[in-house]
Amino acid sequence: MSNTAPRKILVTSALPYANGAIHLGHLLEYIQTDIWVRFQKSRGQDCHYVCADDAHGTAIMLRAEQEGITSEALIDRVSREHQEDFARFGVAFDNYHSTHSEENRYFSELIYTRLRDKGHIATRDIEQMYDPVKGLFLADRFIKGTCPKCHTDDQYGDNCEACGATYTPAELIDPVSAISGATPEVRSSTHYFFKLPDFARFLQGWIDDDHVQPQIRNKLMEWFESGFNEWDISRDAPYFGFEIPDAPGKYFYVWLDAPIGYLASFKNLCDREGIDFDAYWREGSDAEVYHFIGKDIVYFHALFWPAMLHGAEFRTPTAVNCHGFVTVNGAKMSKSRGTFIKAATYAEHLNPEYLRYYFAAKLTAGVDDLDLNLEDFAQRVNSDLVGKVVNIASRCAGFVKKLGGGRLSGHCAQPELVARFIAAGDEIAEHYEAREFGRAMRKVMELADEANTYIAEAEPWVLAKQDGREQEVLDICSVGINLFRQLMVYLAPVVPAMAEGARAFLKLDSLDWDSRQELLLDHEIAKFKPLMTRVERDRIDAMIEASKEDLVEEQKLKETPKGPLTDTPIAPEIAFDDFARVDLRIARIAKAEYVEGADKLLRLTLDLGGETRNVFAGIRQAYAPEALEGRLTVVVANLAPRKMRFGVSEGMVLAAGDDEGIYLLEPHSGAQPGQRVS
Ligand code: MSP
Ligand code: ZN
Repeated sequence: MSNTAPRKILVTSALPYANGAIHLGHLLEYIQTDIWVRFQKSRGQDCHYVCADDAHGTAIMLRAEQEGITSEALIDRVSREHQEDFARFGVAFDNYHSTHSEENRYFSELIYTRLRDKGHIATRDIEQMYDPVKGLFLADRFIKGTCPKCHTDDQYGDNCEACGATYTPAELIDPVSAISGATPEVRSSTHYFFKLPDFARFLQGWIDDDHVQPQIRNKLMEWFESGFNEWDISRDAPYFGFEIPDAPGKYFYVWLDAPIGYLASFKNLCDREGIDFDAYWREGSDAEVYHFIGKDIVYFHALFWPAMLHGAEFRTPTAVNCHGFVTVNGAKMSKSRGTFIKAATYAEHLNPEYLRYYFAAKLTAGVDDLDLNLEDFAQRVNSDLVGKVVNIASRCAGFVKKLGGGRLSGHCAQPELVARFIAAGDEIAEHYEAREFGRAMRKVMELADEANTYIAEAEPWVLAKQDGREQEVLDICSVGINLFRQLMVYLAPVVPAMAEGARAFLKLDSLDWDSRQELLLDHEIAKFKPLMTRVERDRIDAMIEASKEDLVEEQKLKETPKGPLTDTPIAPEIAFDDFARVDLRIARIAKAEYVEGADKLLRLTLDLGGETRNVFAGIRQAYAPEALEGRLTVVVANLAPRKMRFGVSEGMVLAAGDDEGIYLLEPHSGAQPGQRVS
């Protein structure tokens, strides 16, 4: 390390969407990336880790609208929440930016215009479903209807969850907009396309050149064989994003400017810290660029992105590192089972470093899914981190304090053993470098076993009871502390907070990789404090319960804007005469009072313009009686009187509502009690 120049490395994780909370699935990626970055930094490389919120698109625009705030306010809030979550899990970005930023606008326009000027952009009219009520074009997932194949209703516009059929939204039977409930219309508009086929030869070479894992290469080859199309990169207004230069009313599709967000965030860091941006991004740069992503977004990162960069004369990534998906207890994360666990919910109950260690212990360089088995999680963390690693320090620290006055022995009683631990760092480093974190952790735990065996066999606690053997005990325990130090150097990228505790305990300036070469002899250490406590099962249970409650909160938010139309089907048709038989009148609420023994009802005394009616209305939850007195409403005046437990109801007032709320109908002011409503 020391005599070669540091590598220049830029690392990214995928940019999380700015409309939802970080969950444990996301965290696999950010933790994986963060471990790799911390390892590189520990080795003295010049490594920068950047990320950003992915802030554009229809989903974010609609979410903001649903919450009654601007898109900007939403993305600001979510960005803060995301950064808090990441900080809690020790994910230490050098910069966290947003795709809704000036840097990103600049690079999006630059890349687009370069591609356009070289003839890689086409325009063409396409037909699309349009929501005439909301006034926007509908992406497939915003259209629902009956499956044309198996006739299951309430299916999304691109595929059927019941029979698995795929189709276009136009083929759906009775399609409706999932946003407004309106029947969509087909409309035509001009779209802009990135001519991906122009880059087929380039991409073929790129994919063959070891920039992706073998499994990903195979997948990409399949896509290649089926041939690829031009990529639609524009969306019509209204859209939350950047307008395309010289194309008023047309916006860059969110996936066009999202990866460009990597450049934007890095540029923002470069400007702040005086780093040479071009040294990393010009064609032929000797810097390394790595993108860590999940397997669901390979297409964007391994096809569109390298093609865009190449076409716009930027360098392409050194590698796109793909990981699998997190499952919990062997199944897809499930909201109803409480295994869809948000980062914040986890952190309220359990130490984030448990999760970092567990993920590390199970991570490989491959793309297989990773199961978070909560039973195994508790057992693994307790036996490895607490039972093996912390145990070494806790067994030795007391004797060092007592027999050495807090100073380690001046000579090393087991130079070969310690030398082997130091040498093992080379193998462990190779595993880290190759993203084989599981192998690295296994090697570290093998060493921890050895250290524990050494101490167990030397039995310092037995010797300590014998006269004149104090130095021997101090020697043994000093070896133990030296071995512990080696292990903490190797674990520091995975458990940075625990490592920080260990560093303070060992009174060292750093636990960087190379620092391990120097033995701790005649070295003072601090008082031992437990560096990590055991996972408690009831905390896991509490986290699952809390996750189920998160779900309830979310559903409330989701259901509010859904119109009753989508919940309650319209009743069968009636003739006009049927309607005309209902006599609706304006009524003034003269008096409103509670009904003893009825928790839903109010007794209303209605003035129908000369005639008084006594009506019971199920609106007690929504209105205080005094708030109603004097108001006008609409009453069904010719409804047969109904005998109720509390008296006779002579009519019915009209109200809209469901479980979420009740709203009494009220005419505009000026209507007179007794007037007929028709
Ligand atoms: N915004 C896009 C990425 C744009 S990158 C230019 C996106 N966002 S996301 O929030 O849905 O996902 C962010 C990352 O988290 C992705 O790499 C995704 O694969 C990963 N994961 C999301 N859920 C996951 C699991 N359950 N398991 C593992 N990774 C998961 O995609
Ligand atoms: Zn179907």
